[in-house]
Amino acid sequence: MAFSLGSIFKNVSSSLGKSAEGSVLGIDIGASSAKIVQLRTSKGAAILETYGEIALGPYAGQPIGKAVKLPPEKIAEAITDVMREANVTARSGGLSIPFSSSLVSVITLPNVDPEQLKRMIPIEARKYIPIPVSEVSLDWFVIPRDEGEGSAFDRIEPQSVLEAKGREVLLVAIHNNALQGYQTVAATAGLSIDFYEIEIFSAVRSSVGHGIAPIVVVDIGAATTKIYVVERGVVRLSHLITMGGQQITEHLARSLDWEFEKAERVKRERGLVESTAYSPDENDRIKTSLLSTLERLLSEVNRVVLSYGQRYNKNVSRVVLTGGGASLPGLTEVAKQELAVEVEIANPFQRTETPAFLENVLREIGPGFSVAVGVALRKLKT
Ligand SMILES: Nc1ncnc2c1ncn2[C@@H]1O[C@H](COP(=O)(O)OP(=O)(O)OP(=O)(O)O)[C@@H](O)[C@H]1O
Ligand SMILES: [Mg+2]
Repeated sequence: MAFSLGSIFKNVSSSLGKSAEGSVLGIDIGASSAKIVQLRTSKGAAILETYGEIALGPYAGQPIGKAVKLPPEKIAEAITDVMREANVTARSGGLSIPFSSSLVSVITLPNVDPEQLKRMIPIEARKYIPIPVSEVSLDWFVIPRDEGEGSAFDRIEPQSVLEAKGREVLLVAIHNNALQGYQTVAATAGLSIDFYEIEIFSAVRSSVGHGIAPIVVVDIGAATTKIYVVERGVVRLSHLITMGGQQITEHLARSLDWEFEKAERVKRERGLVESTAYSPDENDRIKTSLLSTLERLLSEVNRVVLSYGQRYNKNVSRVVLTGGGASLPGLTEVAKQELAVEVEIANPFQRTETPAFLENVLREIGPGFSVAVGVALRKLKT
């Protein structure tokens, strides 16, 4: 194992003393854009000091909104630019790792002491990780047992059976290559990274509370959409679909015979809401195109919602939409029709103190910042 990832799940309390004063950064390097958030704590509250987002497409000669794969030096350049533009003053914080560079599974291990667990996990991991264990860094988190009320699984397996079987452990593996790349980015941009965290956990921290019923978090990114089922704040299931906002734009560009740039702009500004800036025919075609991609995406979400409900005999209570794609104007109404449960658009800045005059802007752009805000919150919160 090349890196110690002990900090990924380190109880936040252990990092509290270190950074309770001063400002921290949450950095999210997505496929299409990088986001940065600077928070400070004061009397237990997280205060938003500054935030910024920069499209990565242009650093690869591609339009805004395109998912690109950049070398670490180019990413560092973009991060440096956004830090300058947003007047970021802090130089340390956390960085998110994309879901696609990680593997997450819930495994069951016997009831052994922590030392034994430490020895068992790399051996057990071989069964779950389809690549050599030497190529990944491993971390794990023993899922707390529910007191009294029972876990997500106990309707099919009574507590006594679970006791006999052992402990549920959330196993996380990150490709060493990916980590190395991020270390180069940080060093080049002059950042000191205190911890790395898989984006799943960051998005969940900033987007949902600790409700009892299962909640589905959907992160609509550029090239991919991530779906997580969360129960009592614990991620039970995660799912990646290779479809996202970029595909919505591409479809729109094809349908209306526009350049990608124009389709991207119209999607963000007009979205599903009719506008007098377009002819009735154009309005129709825009809507039809957006809906056709969106409906496919939402039907995948529905599949997860329904199968989780059936498998564990529990109803998912609501779906929280996040990621840049969740800022599509008019999305809520369509999602409510397509999904059989309550729908909400994530508002991660709600967990921070912000100036009143920014409230509307932050609500609009909020979904795209879920991961960055979640990373920064981890450094500050209990
Ligand atoms: N106002 C908006 N309306 C509709 N779509 C939007 C809006 N703003 C951003 N998007 C879309 O959101 C997508 C980018 O979202 P986000 O920034 O969360 O992705 P990412 O983090 O770069 O990608 P990934 O999570 O896949 O690595 C793009 O497809 C972009 O077109
Ligand atoms: Mg993202």
